[in-house]
Amino acid sequence: MQRERWDSRIVFIFAAVGSAVGLGNIWRYPFLAHKYGGGAFLLPYLIALLIIGIPLLILEFGLGQRMQKGAVDSFAAIKRRLSGVGWAALITSFIVITYYVVVMSWAMIYLFDSFSLRWGSDTSSYFYDTILQSTSSINEIGNISPIIFLALLASWIAIYFSVWKGVDSLSKVVMWAVPIPMVLIIALLIRAVTLPGALSGIALYIKPEFSALLDPEIWIAAVSQIFFSLSLAFGVMIAYASYNKKNQDVVEDAFAVGITDSVVAILAGFIVFGTLGFMAQQQGIAFEDVAVGGPGLAFVIFPKALSLMPFASLFSVFFFLTLVLLAIASAFSLVEAVTTTVEDKTRKIKREVISFVVCLVGFLGGLIYITGAGIYFIDLVDHFLTHYSLIIVGILECIAVGWIYGAEKLRKYINKVSKRDIGQWWNFSIKYAIPVLLIFVLILQIKEELGRSYAGYPNWALMLGWILVVGTFVVSFSLPQKKVKIPKGA
Ligand code: PHE
Repeated sequence: MQRERWDSRIVFIFAAVGSAVGLGNIWRYPFLAHKYGGGAFLLPYLIALLIIGIPLLILEFGLGQRMQKGAVDSFAAIKRRLSGVGWAALITSFIVITYYVVVMSWAMIYLFDSFSLRWGSDTSSYFYDTILQSTSSINEIGNISPIIFLALLASWIAIYFSVWKGVDSLSKVVMWAVPIPMVLIIALLIRAVTLPGALSGIALYIKPEFSALLDPEIWIAAVSQIFFSLSLAFGVMIAYASYNKKNQDVVEDAFAVGITDSVVAILAGFIVFGTLGFMAQQQGIAFEDVAVGGPGLAFVIFPKALSLMPFASLFSVFFFLTLVLLAIASAFSLVEAVTTTVEDKTRKIKREVISFVVCLVGFLGGLIYITGAGIYFIDLVDHFLTHYSLIIVGILECIAVGWIYGAEKLRKYINKVSKRDIGQWWNFSIKYAIPVLLIFVLILQIKEELGRSYAGYPNWALMLGWILVVGTFVVSFSLPQKKVKIPKGA
């Protein structure tokens, strides 16, 4: 049977950019930047992009395209027992998607609220009490929020209809779900930097503080941000590249996607900080008092700042529409990674059915995050997955491709299909530099974790985090393994 194909190379690039650019760019990046010394974060971030992000993106694109298979079978083709690497990526994807779509559904609620600026002046109480109906700690589960329940259902329906016909329907959706937010981001950028007071916020965003570079935490943050933002170690990029023709340019595509993702993140920083600078000035308060990270930024601080602007509804719609569209393209890439794998395995079940089951299970799995304690669970699970599972999958990918398949062998293939060659340096990064750096980051992180319990969560919650991480790898490597043939080269 013929493998499905993207309509064109541009569609593939749009889809990959759609997966990469998401909630991670709009609120995660800007606040990491601020937290770790403004302009100084840019340096570790760019270093992580160049020495880890782009080489790994080349690896994932190259592997998926060479093997013409999703994550599990791509690794199984190298060696039967390596299919566990693919499974670990997929299980991680699946856990991430359950909460990612919950955040998307918050954005959807806010998109509707934008027309009337329904959040009013107490945006914090609106978010935590009215929408989330949040309890005071993770120990208290509370109730399921009916409004988020509906929004979550709507989000999953939207995702299902984007993926149900596979590459065909995906292609149609990404052709507008990716460019529209890009235009909106430019509009928001122009608006933000021309607001009174914007420059004082931006100054903090880009002010370098080089002493921060000595802090190991900044490097951990930069590396996990690169993984999350480029959708690396999720099996997503492997699955997407598997729908390319065998002779498509890998190097150019990887650079295009990697650079676009970072440019959007950096621009989002200007939007966020410009807007916060404006808000601080309007309210006559110190910038530090408005600058909070995490979900509080997009759903508490931003609605407030937007309300103070001229044409508040219009810019609110722009902002939340951007979030929803970016989130949907990222979310369905996660579903697609899982569906691709199941489809590789069983040719008998129709893809519509596979996607439906994936979406249904994803929806049910998300219910825990829409309870009163939901936001704590999101924070907890996100922490363990991004700081451990992704990094470990990254290390295993390097070992599998660098040492077992052979970095040189994949490099030869990549150079054969790409206009610009990658040099020997790539072999060196995949075999030595990246795994060594990642192992180092992992050790630092474990040391940090043992030193103080993350965000003061109770032991049972932290246990749950560890079980998710360890369980992922135990399950992945005990699933049945089948031999997969490497297809003929380009
Ligand atoms: N890259 C996305 C973001 O920055 C998150 C994501 C990770 C999406 C993995 C798909 C797969 O928001």
